[in-house]
Amino acid sequence: MLVTQQKVLRKFWYALMPMSALDKGPQPFTLLGENIVVWKGADGKPAALRDRCCHRTAKLSKGFVENGNIVCGYHGWTYDCSGTCVRIPQNPDASIPAGARVPAYHCDERYGYVWVALEEPLQPIPYFPEEEAPGYRRILQFYEQWKTSPLRVMENSFDNSHFSFVHKANFGMIDNPVPAKYEFRPNDWGFEAETHVPVRNPEASFRITGTSEPVTERHLTNRWYMPFSRRFGCVYPASGIHHIIYNCATPIDDGTLMLVQWLYRNDSEEACSTQELIDWDRPITTEDRDILEATDPDACVDTRRRVEFHMESDKPGLMMRRMLMDLLTRHGESEVHNPPEA
Ligand code: FES
Repeated sequence: MLVTQQKVLRKFWYALMPMSALDKGPQPFTLLGENIVVWKGADGKPAALRDRCCHRTAKLSKGFVENGNIVCGYHGWTYDCSGTCVRIPQNPDASIPAGARVPAYHCDERYGYVWVALEEPLQPIPYFPEEEAPGYRRILQFYEQWKTSPLRVMENSFDNSHFSFVHKANFGMIDNPVPAKYEFRPNDWGFEAETHVPVRNPEASFRITGTSEPVTERHLTNRWYMPFSRRFGCVYPASGIHHIIYNCATPIDDGTLMLVQWLYRNDSEEACSTQELIDWDRPITTEDRDILEATDPDACVDTRRRVEFHMESDKPGLMMRRMLMDLLTRHGESEVHNPPEA
């Protein structure tokens, strides 16, 4: 599936960047192949426009913010948050031409990030309950480009059979490669999947897991939010510690995504510091990235095309593929691929 070619994907919200990035001025981002500019308006909320001035096409992200509007860095044409040109400095007494505007996108702030939908969204921004629940702290972990497909990142998140191999250097158990099965609870826009997984618990991870046993259990209640967001809901029953990761594989183009990942913990900074938690998840995330960047980014959602073999533990990924294929079909689309290699 070439994400830039599947028009229905434009109708979902994506996490683009931390809100704090806007403190430095307008920021460019490429979402599904479309160049956009994001900045902070006068009310402190983010706004997003196409990153192309309607005068001589200069990127608005090269400009600056003035009174909550964005000013083109080339000749100073100024646009409000709706994309309407409100000032042409060279013609102060002339009326602004009708139609002098730049397309605007749906834009909002949630969970400390800027979210954008290119077209009228089919669903609201996913609801992540830990944000409002008492006792949790939020930690921004990773924000980095990966050279792979967002579907593969989502599948990998529910594929417990890779733990024993990809993560054998830390929590994976190479001598226990058969993963426990999930219990599934599908909904119209994704699913919840629950299981219990034994993991290695190296001595250094005591402050992460809250237990010093050599093997401990993860009680996972994971969720997939169509198309490319997910919850890794990990509870360590032995200690009661919650380690809840959310990440969004925000599609930049057909071979690149922005991995946006944050964490909720129900313990204190003294019990386990922010830096310890980032340092713990850093090698795990890098191991996932390394193997996923070694896969074909043109991941196929049409399971009738026999381009890959499957096994029992691929069931979550196959559910995603079928639901995404159904989404395409309901919106009158066929799956678009790269031409076959010669
Ligand atoms: Fe933007 Fe001229 S190109 S004002």
